[in-house]
Amino acid sequence: MKPALTKIGAQMSNLTGVRAIMKDINETLRASAGQELYNLSAGNPLILPEVEQLWRDCTADLLASSEYGEVVCRYGSSQGYAPLINTIVKDFNQRYGLNLTDRNVLITAGSQTIYFYAANAFGGYTVDGDLKEIVLPLSPDYTGYGGVCLFPEALVAYKPTLDIDTAAHRFKYRPDFNQLSITENTGCVIFSRPCNPTGNVLTNDEVSKITDLAAPYNVPVLIDSAYAPPFPALNFTEMTPVFGENIIHCMSLSKAGLPGERIGIAIGDESLIQVLECFQTNTGIHSSRYGQAIASRAIESGALAQIAETVIRPFYQKKFDVLESTLEAAMPKNLPWFLHRGEGAIFGWLWLQDLPMTDWEFYQELKKVGVIVVPGSSFFPGLKEEWEHKHQCLRISLTGSDEEITIGMQRLAKVAERVYQVAAVSV
Ligand SMILES: Cc1ncc(COP(=O)(O)O)c(C=O)c1O
Repeated sequence: MKPALTKIGAQMSNLTGVRAIMKDINETLRASAGQELYNLSAGNPLILPEVEQLWRDCTADLLASSEYGEVVCRYGSSQGYAPLINTIVKDFNQRYGLNLTDRNVLITAGSQTIYFYAANAFGGYTVDGDLKEIVLPLSPDYTGYGGVCLFPEALVAYKPTLDIDTAAHRFKYRPDFNQLSITENTGCVIFSRPCNPTGNVLTNDEVSKITDLAAPYNVPVLIDSAYAPPFPALNFTEMTPVFGENIIHCMSLSKAGLPGERIGIAIGDESLIQVLECFQTNTGIHSSRYGQAIASRAIESGALAQIAETVIRPFYQKKFDVLESTLEAAMPKNLPWFLHRGEGAIFGWLWLQDLPMTDWEFYQELKKVGVIVVPGSSFFPGLKEEWEHKHQCLRISLTGSDEEITIGMQRLAKVAERVYQVAAVSV
């Protein structure tokens, strides 16, 4: 049967960004069963034993408590499970000197849904037919933003400026404040900090500049903190979360070992939280209460923040070190390769300047030598203008073993050397 789809139906049944590439990757993995493959494409976090144990312990505690029936056998409030909300209020007030009340917090079914609610509550067409834009101030950014808006024309991303350290083969993206435009036509602003895919962390100053631009128009700024402190604390550089009247601080427990339970947390002004809460009531009622109850335990005891700092962060930081040192040793010095500064998240982002083929073609070349990474062009949602840089980058996952990362990068270096050489000879 082929049902007739509405415009929105057709659009929402399309796979966007990296999901589309994952299909190709999964087919490659299936076709190469038995062959040695170095798969550095995954966005799924690894199961770290200490982290799994924490969630087991919290589950055992919940099972043994009289709360269990109330948690799993009954519906609850759309805003979230009260003990978790109260725990977050207490933890954040203490940790960051805030004055939050329970009205400032919303628990969602994963943080992806926060962006979906916000993109459609604040972005899209007003009753007067005006288009409110969803602004991504620094492209590339999280590919998942590409599918969140029911009106894709509302999504607008801005090209960054590049800080390049040629001798060190490193670079860093910065928001281009000469171009960035936030006006009465802006519905909301979204960016990830630390950033998936690049590992960039916008400075507090850059964040303040963005929120200051949005404040006069009452535009909410969603700071996607899926990798930020206090959990999962996947920042490798000093950073403090930024709060403010027009900021919705968005967190996720997915990279803190709980992606299966779908827990997102939005912290913001009561008026903004209420809009998102109503959206949630209409779409999915509420997030899993089992997940919320175990999250409440892990946060209240302080164990989650502690494990994030002592286990999760060092684990991935070490992986980045392996990636960096292997590229240093294996990549030819005379090639224009640039690794983005590794300031956080679980990925490395490699820019091959003047690459003589597209990122997709390079990805195919890598597959031939058993290495799988993600072509970078899927990470520029909302960037309408053509930009050759879009086709010169690769996302390399830090979820591989040390050996997979090392061998994967050594092979990548050989492929890069060959590809640039062939191009030089044929010129
Ligand atoms: C930057 C970023 N934001 C949001 C998400 C979605 O996370 P969640 O599992 O909380 O929906 C991800 C997942 O990879 C992410 O990388």
